[in-house]
Parts: sequence; structure tokens; C-alpha cells
Amino acid sequence: MADRPRVFVTRRLPGVAPLARLEEVATADVWEHARPPAAAEVTARAEGCTALLPMLTERIDGALLDACPTVHTVANMAVGYDNIDVSAATERGVLVTNTPDVLTDTTADIAFALLLAAARRVTEGERKVRAGEWGTWQPDWLLGRDVHGATLGIVGPGRIGRAVARRAAGFDMRVLYSGRREVADFPGEYVSFEALLERSDFVSVHVPLTPETAGLFGADVFRRMKPTAIFVNTARGGVVDQQALRDALVRGEIAAAGLDVTTPEPLPPDDPLLEAPNLVITPHLGSATAQTREAMADLAVDALCSVFVGERPRHLVNPDAWSHWRGRR
Ligand code: DGY
Repeated sequence: MADRPRVFVTRRLPGVAPLARLEEVATADVWEHARPPAAAEVTARAEGCTALLPMLTERIDGALLDACPTVHTVANMAVGYDNIDVSAATERGVLVTNTPDVLTDTTADIAFALLLAAARRVTEGERKVRAGEWGTWQPDWLLGRDVHGATLGIVGPGRIGRAVARRAAGFDMRVLYSGRREVADFPGEYVSFEALLERSDFVSVHVPLTPETAGLFGADVFRRMKPTAIFVNTARGGVVDQQALRDALVRGEIAAAGLDVTTPEPLPPDDPLLEAPNLVITPHLGSATAQTREAMADLAVDALCSVFVGERPRHLVNPDAWSHWRGRR
């Protein structure tokens, strides 16, 4: 069994089937702890491996790939791959794959859950009930904003943005979107980023974290939004200047925010962001349903099953690496 591939899996996989399938074709070394391995532990465990199956919590860069020259594939269990230095992988002939599609609707669901919760003050209301602060029904108590009939601005009309737009139709919302270019048959009106900020009652972010989008939502952007606007981020914490968001909420420059992603993750309980009013926050649950997480693990395993028989994997993030793939040497 000297040629049996070895894979470092950086966390226990959801469901039983994905790991069982992986173990049919490879020896899987699974990190059994709830907390992610530190960078040095990833490097130590990756040594001698054929492939890695990391989560978005592990940084995979050129230094790691140089230290582990046997690693020819990184099958990220996420659609986002900002945790991986893809250029470094491509230069070294290492394939990188991700897990798109299977989490689109699940992530759109949580964007909508945050939008509704922030608009209708759901978590704030629950906190008041539990704290014994539910005095009586009052005509002017905990008034939120209507979702139905409002204007939703989607920044990033990709798969998840489109799925959010579909949900908005059920709430009779008007949908605007902005992005690098107009998208044929996107269910909404294409506008500039600035027009979207000025016209939207809700702004929902669906862009990947790249050097171009890092810190995109800063003080000027929040100032441009309506004072009644609600900001929702289920993409990556890094697209937001968190201090600017906190200030915008404290000063009432926007009405509320719903966040599933932050910088850092986990967000420490004493982070100043948590002092902001009208903030609904969840711990990066975008894809967190049993069905979707298992489907993501399955896709990552599919990618490894393909490469182990020399086939190009379906969701290859860096097709340029294929021509000089390390695994073919
Ligand atoms: C992803 O796959 O990028 C998501 O953020 C995971 O929840």
C-alpha cells in the first residue's frame, strides 16, 4: 500500500459517507479537535501527504506548499477560498478546488434570516422577553422596518446574490444590484454601486474577499446609505471596515446590521463591534445545515477521488495549474 495517497483533513467531516468514501481511496489523517490546527500543526501534519482537505480556517500558502512538496491538491471545504494563496498554488502546480452550488440556497436563507431579524428586531425582542422587560403591548415599542415592498440592493450578483434576489421576490421587494458588469437575466435592476447605496432600504453583500473588495464597506459607504438602511453581510468579514460599521450604527448613519461574518472569527466577546446598537450577529452559519455541510464534504471528496485517478476535478479554482500539475510528475 506504499502508493496509497494520504490526505490531511483539518476537521471532522459532517456525516458518515464523505469520510468513508475518502477512506476507500486514501488514508485520511483527521484533525479531531474542535479548534482548528495552528499553522505549524498544519505544516507538520501535511508533510508527506498527497493532498489536503482544509476548511476556511486554515491558511494555505506558498511556504506551506514548499515545506510539503508531495502535496499536489488542496480541496477546500468552502466555496470561498480567500484562505488559500491561489497564485502560490498555481505557480507550484498545486490544484485548488472549492465547493460551489451546494451551499447557495442555504447561505441565501441565512442572509434573509438576518435581514428579517434585523428589520423586525427579533433578537432584541427575545432578549427583552428573557430579561423580564416585556411590560405590555405598546403602540410604539420595538418598531422595526417593513421588509415587504422595500428596496433590496445586492452587491455581487453571483450565485448567492441571485438566490437572495429570488427570495426577495416572495416579499414583493424591488431588487437593485451592482457588480463588475450587468448580468443577463438577473432578477433586478443593474445600477452603480453609489446608486445602490443611495436607493436601497437593505444592502446585502455577496462578493468574494479579494484585494479589490477588502474594506469595500468603509465610512464613506455607510454615510452614503439611507439612515433607515439595514446592512447584511454573509460574505466575508474582510469586506467591511468594522470600526466604520460600528461608528455608523452608533451614530445612526444606518439603522441596523445583520452579520454572519466578522474579522476576526471568532469575534471576541469584548470586541467593540458588539457594543453597537441594532446589531444581529451569528457565528458564520451561512452553510451550516446538516444537508449542506455533508454535500460540501462530498464535493471536496469528489475532487480528491478525481485527482487520485489523474482526472481533472470539477470545481478547479486554478485551471492554469493543470498543465504543470505536481501530481503528474
Ligand atoms: C464558504 O463556503 O465560503 C462559506 O463561507 C462557508 O460557510
